[in-house]
Amino acid sequence: MSTSAETLELALGSLVAATEGRTPFTLGFMGTTGTDGGPRVRAVIIRAVDRTAGQVMVATNVLSRKVAELGHQPLVALTLYDDDRGVQLRILGNAEVVTDESERRRAWERFSPSSRHLYASALVPGSPRTDQPLDGPGNDATAMERFAWIRIDMTDLDWLDLSGDPHIRWQFTRDGSNWRGQEIIP
Ligand SMILES: Cc1cc2nc3c(=O)[nH]c(=O)nc-3n(C[C@H](O)[C@H](O)[C@H](O)COP(=O)(O)O)c2cc1C
Repeated sequence: MSTSAETLELALGSLVAATEGRTPFTLGFMGTTGTDGGPRVRAVIIRAVDRTAGQVMVATNVLSRKVAELGHQPLVALTLYDDDRGVQLRILGNAEVVTDESERRRAWERFSPSSRHLYASALVPGSPRTDQPLDGPGNDATAMERFAWIRIDMTDLDWLDLSGDPHIRWQFTRDGSNWRGQEIIP
């Protein structure tokens, strides 16, 4: 039977690994509260993890709906699923858009050219399409202005392991740099 510390290590280690190479946890589903109060969920890539600070980073377009939603309600849910291991990791946290320019630039500089190009157009994501070509106006030089670096301060983790019988479920709550774990009924 795994201890709380071992399971936490597995959860945080899996998150870090998801940013060092492509793993099933690299892609997550992030839930926010829409400006109408209803739920919104979309796929996002986990770009960076600071396990000491308990933070997960996601990149998006500053004009995307999710950024507007976070301005109204910063609480987010992030769900990851590893089909190979039969493990689900659910994260709750507080999200904010990073405003520190040097941190934004450091993150931007780690992006591949193809990732940067996603921000080349100045067209507003989610707005009606017109005759304007999708790749204009805008250009790669100004792409960084449209990049929003979202920091999620994790508050809760829910680790569900379906690989054995019985299934195993742990809940972790963060208090500063400490996580408190509790095994719960799956
Ligand atoms: C495999 C996959 C990965 C994606 N990764 C991201 C991402 O990292 N960041 C992002 O903003 N959108 C990403 N998207 C697009 C979003 O799911 C979503 O359609 C888009 O961000 C608009 O969401 P919003 O209108 O809720 O802001 C991804 C979509 C897919 C299918």
